[in-house]
Amino acid sequence: MEHHSNLIPWQEFAKKNNFKLKFIPITKNYELDYKKAKKIIRDKTAILAVTHISNVFGTINNIKFLVSLAKEKKAIAIIDAAQSIQHLKIDVKKIGCDFLLSPVIKCLVLLELAFFMEKKSF
Ligand SMILES: Cc1ncc(COP(=O)(O)O)c(C=O)c1O
Repeated sequence: MEHHSNLIPWQEFAKKNNFKLKFIPITKNYELDYKKAKKIIRDKTAILAVTHISNVFGTINNIKFLVSLAKEKKAIAIIDAAQSIQHLKIDVKKIGCDFLLSPVIKCLVLLELAFFMEKKSF
């Protein structure tokens, strides 16, 4: 359910740096399979990059849960907020992610810019 912006760069990164890309499957209700996510996000996981709201299905992902799984494994948690930034109140502290990103055009700012929020510890 990821937008190409949150897929192609990771494919390139994985190829160049010899990382393995893993995908959390989708259920027949167009939701992420959280049971499987628990198995997929494991000790070897370095980065979790997931969309908050899918631009394809409109699914709102339980990012707080996914981030907690990533942080348990000491992985970096990155949230693509391109579809949620204009619709939801986002509390990055509650979510616990390390980075949250969106192009500013999603906030009706007609500029070729993006913003990202970064945890202080980075
Ligand atoms: C979920 C999602 N992520 C990222 C993007 C950002 O796309 P771009 O890199 O083209 O600004 C979009 C644009 O619609 C989106 O829907």
